[in-house]
Order: sequence, then structure tokens, then C-alpha cells
Amino acid sequence: MKKLWGGRFTKSAEEWVDEFGASISFDQELVEEDIEGSLAHVEMLSRCGIIEQEEAAQIQKGLKLLKEKSQEEGLPFSVKLEDIHLNLESLLTDEIGPVGGKLHTGRSRNDQVATDMHLYLKKQAAHVIKLIEELQAALLSQAEENVETLMPGYTHLQRAQPISFAHHLMAYFWMLERDKERYSENLKRINVSPLGAGALAGTTFPIDRELTASLLGFDDIYENSMDAVSDRDFILEFLSASSILMMHLSRFSEEIILWSSQEFRFIELDDSFATGSSIMPQKKNPDMAELIRGKTGRVYGNLVGLLTVLKGLPLAYNKDMQEDKEGMFDTVKTVIGSLKIFSGMVGSMTVNSEVMEKATKSDFSNATELADYLSGKGLPFREAHEIVGKLVLDCVNRGCFLSGLPMEVYKEASTLFEEDIYEVLDPRAAVARRNSQGGTGFAQIKKALEKAKGRLKDKAYS
Ligand code: ARG
Repeated sequence: MKKLWGGRFTKSAEEWVDEFGASISFDQELVEEDIEGSLAHVEMLSRCGIIEQEEAAQIQKGLKLLKEKSQEEGLPFSVKLEDIHLNLESLLTDEIGPVGGKLHTGRSRNDQVATDMHLYLKKQAAHVIKLIEELQAALLSQAEENVETLMPGYTHLQRAQPISFAHHLMAYFWMLERDKERYSENLKRINVSPLGAGALAGTTFPIDRELTASLLGFDDIYENSMDAVSDRDFILEFLSASSILMMHLSRFSEEIILWSSQEFRFIELDDSFATGSSIMPQKKNPDMAELIRGKTGRVYGNLVGLLTVLKGLPLAYNKDMQEDKEGMFDTVKTVIGSLKIFSGMVGSMTVNSEVMEKATKSDFSNATELADYLSGKGLPFREAHEIVGKLVLDCVNRGCFLSGLPMEVYKEASTLFEEDIYEVLDPRAAVARRNSQGGTGFAQIKKALEKAKGRLKDKAYS
């Protein structure tokens, strides 16, 4: 098969060399974007008088036909034609004859591929934002059901202070809100057109870059043609936002895995999001959460991979940049899959509120209450801390918790203690009292839920 760039060559590469250089096996993912970009380009060529209207109409008809064929039966791509751009151009020429060769006037594969990637990520980033919102909605409705559900809050994975389960869930809501902000910031830079930059230096044809940008729905155009074809920052930003999002999902996965263990039994995953063991009949494994935790690694890998590909590249286009695609496709697929699974998993899990609440009663997570009680009565907090620390030690030696210590012991420790300390020790009261802004107090949570609902309704970023 003759190469589209074959004029200067006297000998063709062997098949295995072609195969090494080809990207068609993966960049065919960009088939729709490539056609969309070409349609806009040819429209501009005709409106600027660079090709005849009749020729443009023929090319557009051919491109639309290829789009239909691609959707219906798929297109016959060839490794010999290297990538999606040359494959489509060759198929177009097969379809409409030599006039197909006019499509590439005033354009290079370098601005073409960059345009495809911008178009592709624009769609995908918007989709990711929508899926994050779905997960936020699932979290919000679980939180609304669980305002009154108590659980031990942890630091160092040691029981720290009692909290409402809704408060814990809503922490993830706000993490996801920041993820959304990152993707929407990213969208500003994705939404810029490199088309018309040519190979690197612009073109001699009287093209109209603003026109192609507006036909393709881009907000702006790259100022500098060399930057336009060399820039992959918008992909790096996407991979970076995705790495942070996956890190959040991975932390959440870890909690889901812990909570669904026999040691915790705080939640039970719905059967549709768990799997069994081929040998141990009793097992119900949180595979989906584990997989998401595991897949976080490949998303980080894709980010580091592309940063490394780009770090030593002189301007402008270098073939190394063909390596920008697989990691990006893989990240898109991983993030979309993980978000969908997460929404289903969180929305369908059963919360064992009695088990959680019981846990708040059989520990020392109410010790801060006592220290606050004493300092509320004027004792410096450091001294209060010391007294309560000793009481905890006393409990450990006796084998009881703070609510099990008799009044005499409290009186002996400090005369400031009165009978009401037993109410103070109640974890529900402890949660209710934490009414500082953004705290776990029930009144605060209700406010926070309203705020979150408003935020979701605004859909400020999509
Ligand atoms: N397949 C190439 C890529 O993905 C397209 C651009 C090729 N340009 C070139 N001059 N070889 O990067």
C-alpha cells in the first residue's frame, strides 16, 4: 500500500517496523472527533475560498458517509496507514476520489491530532463531572437517612470522638466537590482550539481559525502555533485531577472494606456489589471497592508516564507524543467505571446503625467530653486532660468504661464533677454538643445537608 507521505521515499519499511510506529490500534477511539474536526476544517476552507464549494460539499458528504459506516459496521482500518488520520483520509479518497486529497489543505496531522484530543477530552471531562454529581447525590441521600446514626470517629484508626455517620459521608461529598472544580478548571484549558496551527508554524493559506473554533464549539484559540501543537498540559491536568479523584475513591474504598469486615460490621454491601469465594462458602468479598483501590495505581501511573514522556521534548511535535493516548483513554475508562460502581455501591449499602452506635458506647471516645466538662467549669484544659487521662487508666485497670466509674471516684479526682457527668458521657449528647460551624452536631449537619443540596442543584460546574 502506498504511503500518503510516500513521495520522498524509495523503499518502504517492513511490516513489523510499520506496526511499531502505528497508533491505529488505539487512536481509532478518536474516529468521531477526527471526522468532526475535518468537517469543520473543510467548511472553513470553502468559506474562505481556499477550495471550491462543490469540492467541499463532496468531501463533507464523504466524511458523513464514513461516520455512518463507522457507527453501523465499523471501518476497515489498516496498520499500514499508521494512524486514524491517514486511515480516514485514505478511506475518504476511496469513497469520493482524488478530491479527498484536498481535505488536508492548510492542515497538518500535528494540529489535527491535537484538535481530536481536545474534542475528546471535552466530552469526557463533562461526563466525569456528571458522574461525580451522581455519586454526590447518592452520598447525600445516604447521609440524610443517617443523621441520627452514631459511630466512633477515628484518628490514627483509633477511636477518637463519637460522630454522626452522615458527617463522615458528607466529608466525601466535599472532597468530590473539589474534584469537580478541578475538572471544570481543566475544561477551560481543554476548550481551546489548536486547529490551524499547521505542522508548527501556521500556514500560507488564508484560513480562519476563529471560524473552525466556533464550528467546533471551542471558546478560544491557541495564541501561538508552536504551543498549539506541542501542548499536552490539558491532558496532564485531566490525569492529575483524575489521580486526586481516584485517591479520594481509594480512601473511601478502604473504609468500605474495613466497615464491611466482621471486625467492624458497620455496613453490609448489597449482594450485587460483592462477590463470593470459590473455596470458602461463607465469604462475601468487597471486590469492587478493592478493585477501585487497586486501579488508583494505574491512574497515577498514567500521569507519571505522560509527565515523563514530555519532560525532555524540544518544540514542537515529536513522535513521542503519540504516547499521550493510551494512558488518557485508560484513565477515562477507569474513572468513569469507578464512579459508576461507587454510586451503586454507596446507594445500595445497608448501614448497621445499632452496631455502630454500640461501638460508641464501648470505648473511651467520650473522654474529651469529661475534659471539656472540667475546663468548662474553669479548670485549665491541660489539667483537665491530666485528670481524665488518669480516670481512663483507672477504668483500664478496673475493666470498665468511663460511664461505669462510680461517682465517688469522680469526686475524688476533682470536686468539680457533679452527677450530670453521666449525661455528658452519653455519645449522642456528645455529638449534639459539637455545634461549631462544620462540626458533627446534629443541627450543624442539617444545615450542611441543605447547603450541599443547594450546591448540587446549582450544578455550577457542568
Ligand atoms: N499518530 C500521531 C500521534 O498520535 C499523529 C500525529 C503525527 N504527526 C506526525 N508528523 N508524524 O501523535
